[in-house]
Amino acid sequence: LNMSTIKIAVIPGDGIGKEVIPVGMRALEAAGRKHGVEFEWTEFNWSCETYHQTGRMMPEDGIEQLSKFDAIYLGAVGFPGVPDHISLWGLLLPIRRAFDQYVNLRPVRLFEGVPCPLVGKQPGDIDFYVVRENVEGEYSSIGGIQYEGTEHEIVSQQSLFTRRGTDRIIKYAFDLAQSRAKKHLSSATKSNGIYHSMPYWDGRVAEIAQSYPEVNVDQFHIDILTANFVRMPEFFDVVVGSNLFGDILSDLGPACTGTIAIAPSANINPEKTFPSMFEPVHGSAPDIAGQGIANPLGTIWAGAMMMQHLGLPEMHDSLMQAMESVLREAEHLTPDMGGQANTLALGAAVVAAIEHAA
Ligand code: NAI
Ligand code: MG
Repeated sequence: LNMSTIKIAVIPGDGIGKEVIPVGMRALEAAGRKHGVEFEWTEFNWSCETYHQTGRMMPEDGIEQLSKFDAIYLGAVGFPGVPDHISLWGLLLPIRRAFDQYVNLRPVRLFEGVPCPLVGKQPGDIDFYVVRENVEGEYSSIGGIQYEGTEHEIVSQQSLFTRRGTDRIIKYAFDLAQSRAKKHLSSATKSNGIYHSMPYWDGRVAEIAQSYPEVNVDQFHIDILTANFVRMPEFFDVVVGSNLFGDILSDLGPACTGTIAIAPSANINPEKTFPSMFEPVHGSAPDIAGQGIANPLGTIWAGAMMMQHLGLPEMHDSLMQAMESVLREAEHLTPDMGGQANTLALGAAVVAAIEHAA
């Protein structure tokens, strides 16, 4: 891997994905100019629009095309007119699975300048990670429907938890907790209601915990855990969950810090056998698409996580510092954060902050 030129596959996707990705690219380039890093971007127009034209979200050899890149930078996919399970199973899930991106890492942080919907929380109070299992669990296509269209319809949907898949995500979360000051891991479960998989999950957490004596571990059923995100977000440090529970928690967490639009999501293949994929948490936002007011910060933060993953922490830090300084100035904020700036203005402010940083 030649670190001075990074080859990125760019998939802007649908809706506001096409508005925020170019802004993220400009921010990365600005940081690159500071740190001697160049980007070679290759753009793919795979999206719901492509689906309408070709019947596919991406070409048959799409995975093979992507495999040559250092990383994938994704906006959002999904748009009215194409059922969400088609867009998800036609692009996002195949990429996550083919490239064994089994960690979905989503930071949750309360920044100065962003109005917090929880009363009395200060910047710094909320600072944790959700670690979500990203390739198995509840998100499976195994199951079926029988006696369809009759009163006797039977639907089954299988969850799959493998020993390998469960252990590796739990270990990743323990390693992350071990590396942080609080060294505190919380596990999301529902072993009171879900009879097989969740007691199994709890058992794996308990066994793996023995190898991490310094990490404080607790577990919560998913229902009270969601309540605790709202009641006491400052309690959490690293939270690990299955695919479904992690998905829910990783939208709720950022929402507790003011807006999901600044939250990033890293789909990581920790072994670096395959490219990892970085995207904002939010979707294509059809309700505001085309208006030029989407918040690009989730995409910029995703870009920062991409730099961290590729072993360029100084690039990551440049982008994060710029984001923090821009958020402190109300004039730069987009409407979702209570401001009046548009996508391009906020992006330009981030670029300026990178350029003017010491
Ligand atoms: P969404 O995240 O697109 O929108 C939810 C709400 O948040 C909307 O009111 C939207 O205007 C607002 N919002 C989202 N991002 C924003 C931003 N950057 N700036 C300002 N406001 C923002 O979620 P929704 O509506 O559930 O899904 C819309 C489409 O996106 C669906 O087709 C869905 O499948 C897809 N989607 C794709 C994802 C991905 O590509 N990873 C993730 C989530 C949804
Ligand atoms: Mg989600």
